[in-house]
Amino acid sequence: MSPHAGLELLTTAVLMLDENLHVTYANPAAELLFAQGRNHMLGVAFDAALPGNDDFMSRLAQALEFEAGFNDNDLLLEVEGYPAHLHCVITPAETAGPERLILEFRQLEQQLKIAREAKILEQQQASRELIRNLAHEIKNPLGGIRGAAQLLERELADAEQREFTQVIIKETDRLQSLMNRLLTPNRLPRVESLNIHEVLEHVRTLLLAEFPGSLEVKRDYDTSLPDLTGDKEQLIQAILNVARNAAQATGGLGEIRMVTRIARQVTIARKRFRHAIAVSIEDDGPGVPPELAERIFYPLVSGRQGGSGLGLSLAQSFVSQHHGIIEFESESGHTRFTLVLPLRTAGEMMQ
Ligand SMILES: Nc1ncnc2c1ncn2[C@@H]1O[C@H](COP(=O)(O)OP(=O)(O)O)[C@@H](O)[C@H]1O
Ligand SMILES: [Mg+2]
Repeated sequence: MSPHAGLELLTTAVLMLDENLHVTYANPAAELLFAQGRNHMLGVAFDAALPGNDDFMSRLAQALEFEAGFNDNDLLLEVEGYPAHLHCVITPAETAGPERLILEFRQLEQQLKIAREAKILEQQQASRELIRNLAHEIKNPLGGIRGAAQLLERELADAEQREFTQVIIKETDRLQSLMNRLLTPNRLPRVESLNIHEVLEHVRTLLLAEFPGSLEVKRDYDTSLPDLTGDKEQLIQAILNVARNAAQATGGLGEIRMVTRIARQVTIARKRFRHAIAVSIEDDGPGVPPELAERIFYPLVSGRQGGSGLGLSLAQSFVSQHHGIIEFESESGHTRFTLVLPLRTAGEMMQ
């Protein structure tokens, strides 16, 4: 095994340079980023491997001379004649080998995506809290309104006027149940070791019962996936909410696919995980309406007649209790929601 085996799987591009600034190591992510095989880079000076980057080269020479690393969040390198916008971390190497500098590069777009996800999760958290507080405030007087309407109804001489008190009672009941649904997800997760495919099979059964007839639910499972530590009920609810939307989008007549895969080196809200389980729910419906796309995870946002707009908000909240995230991509005829659920090691559990 190579001494740098651990670096081979990283999505961050890693190069190592010796005292002459010649490349001694490049990982596969670096091959991808710099668009050349490592055999072309190994043993070659950095500025020969990546010509056109004199400024950066002299900063590397300085880092080497003073044994001082540096970071750059806004680095422009020329790669094959095109600018690449990068984030880099340069560190002096402290190994017994020939390498003197370790260079790590990430593409800025990837960096931006991570920041954006963290921001989205924070915003969703804030909006959920606001809604919870509001729901409490609305819920409290509802009991009083309902009770008063019942008393009033008994006093009414004219039976026809009961129509009005009945409206009050029915509407307070409706609000009450909406508020209850807004207030539920506050229990602590009950974690156990679980098999994601059992969860999916459960969801599939529920879905087929809810949409009898023409809905098709196909599976494409990676059965070698390890067990996950999580709250089974929450995961069933989260996946069901996503899958139900998919079924509704197809009008109950389309095809849904449930896909499981391993995902490596995922970063969610600035935390890195070596492995995660990616559960995708795909459908062939008309797609998420573009004007809603930015907001569908917010509570009370719905594009459906009679929709509560709570399904995805709850699902996201359950998944983020598992340190995961739900993402989606959608176009007409193909929509995919993916729940990324980190497989946390014992160390990561403590965080
Ligand atoms: N698979 C999908 N295809 C198309 N639109 C979707 C899909 N999933 C979600 N949506 C859109 O997102 C909205 C919000 O979903 P959700 O939070 O579950 O609330 P609700 O289902 O009550 O409307 C839906 O109303 C729909 O417009
Ligand atoms: Mg829904």
